[in-house]
Formats: sequence, C-alpha cells, structure tokens
Amino acid sequence: MSNIQILWVLGLSVAAIVVWRLELRLELSLAKHRSLTGHARMSRWFSRLVPFYEYGESEFFRVDGAPVEVESRRRSAFERLAALYTQRFHKTARLTQELQGDISDLQFTSRYRVPFQFSAYVRRHFNAGSFVESTSGRTVTDLDGNRLYDLSGSYGVNVFGYDFYKQCIERGSERVRGLGPLLGAYHPVTAYNVRRLREISGLDEVSFHMSGTEAVMQAVRLARYHSGRRYLVRFCGAYNGWWGDVQPGVGNPTPARDTLTLKEMDSATLRVLRRRRDIACVLVNPLQALHPNAAAPSDSTLLDSARRAHFDRAAYSHWLQQLRAICSERNIALIFDEVFVGFRLARGGAQEYFGVRADLVTYGKTVAGGLPIGVLCGRRQWMRRFREERPVDVCFARGTFNSHPYVMGAMHEFLQRLESSELQAVYRDLDQTWDARAAMLNARLEAEALNVRVANLSSIWTVWYPKPSRYNWMLQYYLRAHGLALSWVGTGRLIFSLDYSDADFAEVVERFVAAARSMQQDGWWWADASLSNKAIKRQLLSEMLRARLHLPSDRSARPEVGATAIGNKA
Ligand SMILES: Cc1ncc(COP(=O)(O)O)c(C=O)c1O
Repeated sequence: MSNIQILWVLGLSVAAIVVWRLELRLELSLAKHRSLTGHARMSRWFSRLVPFYEYGESEFFRVDGAPVEVESRRRSAFERLAALYTQRFHKTARLTQELQGDISDLQFTSRYRVPFQFSAYVRRHFNAGSFVESTSGRTVTDLDGNRLYDLSGSYGVNVFGYDFYKQCIERGSERVRGLGPLLGAYHPVTAYNVRRLREISGLDEVSFHMSGTEAVMQAVRLARYHSGRRYLVRFCGAYNGWWGDVQPGVGNPTPARDTLTLKEMDSATLRVLRRRRDIACVLVNPLQALHPNAAAPSDSTLLDSARRAHFDRAAYSHWLQQLRAICSERNIALIFDEVFVGFRLARGGAQEYFGVRADLVTYGKTVAGGLPIGVLCGRRQWMRRFREERPVDVCFARGTFNSHPYVMGAMHEFLQRLESSELQAVYRDLDQTWDARAAMLNARLEAEALNVRVANLSSIWTVWYPKPSRYNWMLQYYLRAHGLALSWVGTGRLIFSLDYSDADFAEVVERFVAAARSMQQDGWWWADASLSNKAIKRQLLSEMLRARLHLPSDRSARPEVGATAIGNKA
C-alpha cells in the first residue's frame, strides 16, 4: 500500500470515528427531556442566576392583577387564617420558632413551603409548627392537643398505620433485648429476614444499609464494578436519594460527571441504551409512573397551575418491559429503586405490581417496621464484592450501624406480620379502593366547580389545579386549618396509610372540600380570562430579569383587569 493510500485509510477511519461519536452525542441530546429538569448542568447554572426578590405587602395579594375587591377579600381571609393559626397552634409554633435557627433541616423546610417570592411574608404570619406529640390510628396530635388526619405518610414509611409500627418496634425490641446494641455480629432474627427478603424479591443475595440513599449507592457501585462501565442512567425528575451521582442537578454543588439523565417512557432513551457501550446500569424509581419526567411536586415550585399527573399502569408496565429487554441484551444492570413504593403497591413490590423483574432492587422506609433502613437485594453475579480470580480488586461497602439488632428485630416483626391473613387482605383490591376514593373526591370537587383535583398511583396522591393561579400554594394552609396534616412539600404529595377506613376517608373528603371551598370563597382562585400558565411564566421571567438587573419592579403599576372570576362563582 502506498503512503497516499495509508493516509486515505487513516483519514477515513478518523472521519468514521468522528461521525460515529457525533451520532452518539446527537442521540444522547435527543434522549434528554426538553425541560430544565432534563438538563442537569443547565439547571444548576440557571439556579445560580435566579436573584432573590419578594412581593411586598402591596403586591402580595394582587400579583395576578386582581381587582381591589378581590385583593381585600384575600387580605382579610389571610388575616383571619393567621389569627386562627396563632391561637390554635400556639405551643407547637413557639417551640418550632425557638429551634428554627438551630436545626438546619427545619430552617430549610420552613423556608421552602411556598414559592420564595411569597415565603417571608407567609412565614411572618403562619407558623403551624413542626412538632407532634403523638400518633394514633390515622391521626397525629400536636403540642396544643389538635388532632389532625395524617396525609404525610411519614415520608412514605407509614404503609400499615402508626399503631402497626409501634408494635413492630416494641415486639422487635423485645426479641433482641438480650443482645443490645452489639454490632458486627448478627442477631439470629437476621437469618429470617434474609430468607424472607430473598423470597419476596425473587433475588439471590441481600445487603443491609442505614438508609435508602446508601442502598442505592451500593447498587450503582456494584453495577459499575461488575460491568466495568462508567455511566449510571437515571430518569428526568426521579428522586433516588441525595447521593451526588443520583442528584446531578439543583441541590448538588458539584457536577455528577458519570450520570446520564434521560427521558422516561421515550424511544430516544431506548436507542441510547441500545447503542452505547459505556452504560453500567439503569436506575428506575417506579413512583415516576405518576408523573414521568417531572420532579417530585413540591408547593415551593407551585408558581402556576402547570402541575399535572396521570398514572397509566399498562403503559408503564410496557416501558419497564422494554427496559428489561434492552438491559438483558446489553448486559446493563436494571435497578428498581423501591425505597418508596416497595410494599405499598403489592406484597412483592413494584416487580410484582408491574410484572417485570430487575437485577437489583432497593427497599427502605417501611421494611424495618418503622426504624431507619436501606436494603439491597440482587442477583448473585451483581452482588458479589470480590473476584475469585483477582483477590485485591474488591468493591468495598461497610456502615457501622448496618444490621443493627433493633432494626433487625423490628424488620422481623414487619416481615412476619406481612404474611398474616389480615395484611394479605389489605392488598386485595387495593387499586380499586384507592382509585374509587380519588374519583369520589374529584367528583365532589368538580360538582362544586372548585379549582383543584387529585391524581393517584394507588395510595400515593398528588394535587393539581385545572385553572391558572398564582396562589395554589395557599391551599396547604387551608387544609391544615381544616385538620389535615401534610408534609413540608405541601399538596404535591399526599400519602395515605392503607388502614384508612371508608369512614376515615369520608371525613378527609369533607375536610378537603371544605378547605377548597373556603379558599375559593376567599378569592385566591380569582383569575382574569387572560391569565394562562404561559403568561405567569413570562411575568416571572420578567420579574427575575428586573431583579437581576436591579431595575425597579413594575408590579405595583400593573393595571387592574376585569373580573371573570373563578372564585366569584363559588
Ligand atoms: C425512591 C427513593 N429512593 C431513595 C430514597 C432515599 O432514602 P433515604 O431517605 O432513606 O435515604 C428515597 C427517599 O425518599 C426514595 O423515595
């Protein structure tokens, strides 16, 4: 071959590699969700650009251009509600205020209950407090003796009711009392737990961790170790704990370079998985079936009424089947993160519920009967932490409190009770029960033309708002005033325990509808016909730009618009 020919071959080879790499890059771009949530780097960059500004008293009640009459209705309702909070949650609020500066978590959550533009003003007037004295049945009781229906679900831990977990903890503690807090060696109850977890998951090995976050970390670490590949694929909007690699966007100060965030339920993602050779694992949080590609809905991001949710079991099952097929074909580890949904949807978790088997499955929250836990179950070939043929090349994982005897004791109680006919009956017709309850509440809300609806994945619910509004986040304060306790993310996530009877639920419906009715009568859902979610976003963008450029606000100069009110119709 002549030199010219060699140069041609070399040139063509380089060109082929460049084209191939460009093609892969293009495919990756097409598999990213168009929202900011789908672009981790850009969302972090954007978050640093957003300046602080807030609505002063004059604009707080009419930032949507409401007429004077609506503004004054809102103002007096706000004052009335604030007075009720001061009187009803007095002790609870006082202790919360005392400790607010000293507990970082409390400081953060109280600040991010509503959009930041409204936050300081709301905080000055409403403090329901974050302390609770006791739980009983479906209710929680605060320091002032107020009993509220619990819709927080204890971050998802509370699947079977608080009394159930109290018993698991008490009986479990009795079982292991003789051993006390000894770590390193196992209490014999652990043998039962391992057997049961293997049987429930249908997988070969089990490892215990202290939190769901750690179980996910270990699953991904093992997938990288055994595949020898670099990338973790996670899905847009999904929460998988707070470890850096699974949280590449806002919230994590450093970039996650080995994570690809792709669109869920999209063929472009399947193309990427089929073509690339550097993907170690695909991490799925099946909770996303309720709102694929959208982040966990929190009221602090409830700037308009764009929040939507809809669960389609058949479609999501099909998606998981497609993922399963490609992962098997490409030897990619398929990880189901069942920390939230495990044991809530079905006894066998999401694997049973959607009819798809994973290579690695994480559990957490509820599985230790109310004590802190993370569990990883997996196929043997993915779980091994060493190689016979290369003894120094290990995959390290430890944790002082892993397999703590008291945690193992409470887990033993949980897993044993799971087999009782009483709990087996709880899973029967579960979806029909919760779908019918959601439909019942929606029918009531619709009949009264209230601007609020719910969507659900079994007993996990989210609230959405059909018509555009700047004030949807106010609903959380009305719900509490009507005796419904939510977690700090507000109406974004309602979690019911499965022991809610029809009578309990009917009571929740009455309170929910009454709260929404008051909110409507008080004018918060007033809206001019021209108000749209797009218009709200445009207005917010303009506000941010003005704040960023230190230009005076144009909000108080906004002309009043005519009243074609949603609120006035109530
Ligand atoms: C799906 C999922 N994975 C992981 C985690 C993290 O679990 P933990 O808070 O126990 O670390 C959570 C917590 O909410 C979760 O919902």
